[in-house]
Amino acid sequence: MARFGILTGGGDCPGLNAVIRGVVRAGVNRYGHQIIGFRYGWSGVLEANTVELTAQNTSGILHRGGTILGTSRTNPYRDGADGTALVREVLEREGIDGLIPIGGEDTLGVAARLSGDGVPIVGVPKTIDNDLSGTDVTFGFHTAVQIATDAIDRLHTTAESHNRVIVVEVMGRHAGWIAAYSGVAGGADVILVPERPFDIDEVCESIKRRHARGTTFSIVVVSEGAMPRDGSGITTAGAKTDAFGHARLGGIAVELEREIEERTGFETRMTILGHVQRGGTPTAYDRVLATRFGVKAIEAADRGEFGSMVSLRGTDIVLAPLADAVAEPKLLDDDLYDTAEVFFG
Ligand code: F6P
Repeated sequence: MARFGILTGGGDCPGLNAVIRGVVRAGVNRYGHQIIGFRYGWSGVLEANTVELTAQNTSGILHRGGTILGTSRTNPYRDGADGTALVREVLEREGIDGLIPIGGEDTLGVAARLSGDGVPIVGVPKTIDNDLSGTDVTFGFHTAVQIATDAIDRLHTTAESHNRVIVVEVMGRHAGWIAAYSGVAGGADVILVPERPFDIDEVCESIKRRHARGTTFSIVVVSEGAMPRDGSGITTAGAKTDAFGHARLGGIAVELEREIEERTGFETRMTILGHVQRGGTPTAYDRVLATRFGVKAIEAADRGEFGSMVSLRGTDIVLAPLADAVAEPKLLDDDLYDTAEVFFG
C-alpha cells in the first residue's frame, strides 16, 4: 500500500470533484492505496493541511462544481523561496509516496519544477480556457462553453427586441477557445480573441455594414484577454497581479460598449459573464473526461510512472511528459476562427 497526495490549484473548474472521486475510488478500491487530500492547492502542502479521502467522503460529488479540497494560487517558489525543499519536507513528514496535482499552467508549472528536482508527480491538466499544451482538451472547457452559449442565446432575444448591440465578455486569458466555440455555437456577429488583435474601426464598420443591410441588432463576443491592434487606449488588465505575476483581467467589454456606441451610433450594452462560467454543474462530457483523467492518474502513480501528465489524444487517455503542460499555451486553431469569420458582419 502507498500513500498518494492530491491537490487542486489555480482557478476552480467544473469537473475537479469528478477527478478527485476517480482517483480515490480507483486508488482505494482497485489498488488498495491511501489518498491524502491537501487543502487549498500548494498552500495546503506548505502548511500540511490534509484530509484523508475515502470512498465515503468523496461520494455524491461527481456532479458538483468547484472543488471539495478548495483551491488557491499559492506559489511555493514565490520571492525566491526554495519551494522544492519546503514541499519535500512536508511530503516526507506526511509519508507521501507521490503527488497528483490537478491544475493549469501555474499549478503544473510548480509540479514540473518539483518533478525536475526528483519529486514523484503525475499531473492532471485543468482549465476552462482549454489553453494547455499536451492535451487535446481540458475538462471544464465544455461546461464553460455551454454556459456562455446559453447566455448568448438569451442575450440574442433581448438584443433583437431592443435593436441593440450587445457585447458579451467571456474568459480566456491567452487563448480565445471559449469565445470562438461559444461565438460559433451562439451565432455571434463578431468574435474578438487574444490571438487576433483587433482594430476597433474594423469592428464598427462590420457592425454598420450588417445594420445597413436591415439587421437591427448585433452580438459581439470578446475574450477577456483580447487586445486592440494599435494603441487605441482600450485596456484589459488591471494593476493587481497574482502570486504568479498574472494581471487580473476583466472589463474590456466596458470599453467596447462605449467605443461601439460612440462610433456607430447604435445603442450598445455589455455583459461580463466572469466566474459564472466556472461555477456549477459540469456537463456530462466534462464529468466523463475528468473521471477518465482521475482513474488514469492513479493508475500511473500505482505503476510509478512519474514525471507525467494524463492527457486526451483523440479519444484515448494517455500519459504525456509533464513538461508538455507548461510549454507554450495551446492557441486557437486557425481553421476554427476562419469558419467563425464566415458569419461576421
Ligand atoms: O485560467 C482560468 C481563468 O478562469 C482565466 O480565464 C481567468 O483570467 C482567470 O482564471 C481568473 O482567475 P481568478 O478566478 O483567480 O480571478
